Amino acid sequence: MAASSTIHVIGSMMIDRVVRVRAIPRAGETVAALSAQTFAGGKGANQAAAAAKFGARVRMLGRTGRDGAFIREALREAGVRVRDIATNDATSGAATVMVAESGENAIVIAPESNLRITKEGIEKFLATAKQGDIVLFQNECALLHEGIAMAAARALRVWLNAAPANAGLSGLRFEKLAGLIVNETEAEALTGEVDPRRALEALAKRMPGGTVIVTLGADGAIAALGSARYIHRGFAVDAVDTVGCGDAFVGVFLAAIAEGRDIAQAIARGNAAGALAAMRAGALRSLPSRSQVEIAADLPEKTKLKPRPPAEDEGAIPANCLGCGYALVGRGEGETCPECGRVIRRVMFTGRWKHAAVRRRFGPARWWSMAVTALWIVGFIGLFIAIEGRGFGLPRSLIDWSRGLGVALTLACFIVAFVAQLGIARGLSTVLSSRIGVTLACARLLPVIAFVLIASRMLPLPWSVENMIIVWGVIGFFVVDAWFLAMLERSWRVASFPTRRPTAAVVGLLALVVAGVIWLTIEFNRGPFPATRMVILAVAFATAWIAQAWLCREIAREIRARE
Ligand code: RIB
Repeated sequence: MAASSTIHVIGSMMIDRVVRVRAIPRAGETVAALSAQTFAGGKGANQAAAAAKFGARVRMLGRTGRDGAFIREALREAGVRVRDIATNDATSGAATVMVAESGENAIVIAPESNLRITKEGIEKFLATAKQGDIVLFQNECALLHEGIAMAAARALRVWLNAAPANAGLSGLRFEKLAGLIVNETEAEALTGEVDPRRALEALAKRMPGGTVIVTLGADGAIAALGSARYIHRGFAVDAVDTVGCGDAFVGVFLAAIAEGRDIAQAIARGNAAGALAAMRAGALRSLPSRSQVEIAADLPEKTKLKPRPPAEDEGAIPANCLGCGYALVGRGEGETCPECGRVIRRVMFTGRWKHAAVRRRFGPARWWSMAVTALWIVGFIGLFIAIEGRGFGLPRSLIDWSRGLGVALTLACFIVAFVAQLGIARGLSTVLSSRIGVTLACARLLPVIAFVLIASRMLPLPWSVENMIIVWGVIGFFVVDAWFLAMLERSWRVASFPTRRPTAAVVGLLALVVAGVIWLTIEFNRGPFPATRMVILAVAFATAWIAQAWLCREIAREIRARE
């Protein structure tokens, strides 16, 4: 899969005041609401959050007032880069959202701060975008046409969700768009065609080189790209609240496109996201996780999706199933996940992934791991010269000096490896579970204690016992290093990072297996330690530690990107 591109959202932020009513009132009617709640919303914010939750790299340019700062926080929590979102406007954009018992809704928006986005702001925001990146607009902010022109001029892929369809869309330069996403109403407003298929054809004619998507609510979506046509008939759900479902579609569809998926796959994912979002109240807060979307997207079209728990149940600690990402609040090890039926073995804490504290554990661990590798390599060269030097005819003084250096650096290497892995264990405590962190830290400590005891001769042990401790201690090093690598790789997966990067872990694990086999063969045969075997052992450990450093670096970078 090609490297994923960044999605730059120039979009709206709204404080959604959601009132639940039995039925949407008619003109002149006053009705009592069943409930009233305030949520983060706005099409731009919802779409940015949906894409980020799916794992895309997302930046957003937006404006809101101080009372809208919680929207910025919600976006940050979802993984959006929020540096270009201002929260000092005089008045925040707001939306009054009425949701009927049937699930249908009616929305009135007051764009306010969203109308104060400036040309300079857009210019500055787009300055760091790379050619081929995606820029996403909706029709709730000022300067839509100017923004589109500026993005197109930079050879960026411009996508427009033409919602809401109003007079602001007149004069739209379709030729500047790489893609257009509309629902049936918006398609009709743009083309005059009531039939969505005819509307799709009409729009496709205006954008011969671009992609057009018409979403059909519960019936899925249809799309056109050149002469190709696509259809996905959607999924069935018991809808609780359809607000934001279209935004879930747009965000997840584009995230899938950004990571190189084809249109059919992206539409399936968009439909799954929209359907899952309909099962929860609120717009931004109803968005599903990547794993939930992936599981649903692979189901046959029209499958009825199982209900999701209400968002409130997720509480402050979002513990999720490792299999499908389902919120597992109130359930523990040994019970089954109600979503995928898998027995819960471990519970992870996705919500804490975004915090700098976690990044700060993995970031330094990367440098410690690199230091371990350097000490190991230089120390090994010293030991190698000490053992093999005579055969090469090296002077005695150099051999003695190398032995001293080799022993010192190898010892230092073990200490530094301990520091590195203690940091990683603390990071994994937060990411996977505290139990795994503590177990790994103890496991790392055991072989070290064994060697220290032997080295300091604190115990009067017979040689055979010492020898056994050394052998098991070394095996312990192999096993614990392999375990660390496996857990780092698992963290990558459970955090739903955009791309899985298991290669480093696989290479490191293979290296450890090779090294372990060599070591055991030598021990088993009580054979000599020929130079080639030593070199293989050294290279294997160095590879494993470089793999460890690499995974720590990637995790720290990814967390930073989500802050
Ligand atoms: O698409 C749903 C969104 O439209 C709501 O969050 C509301 O803010 C309006 O902008």
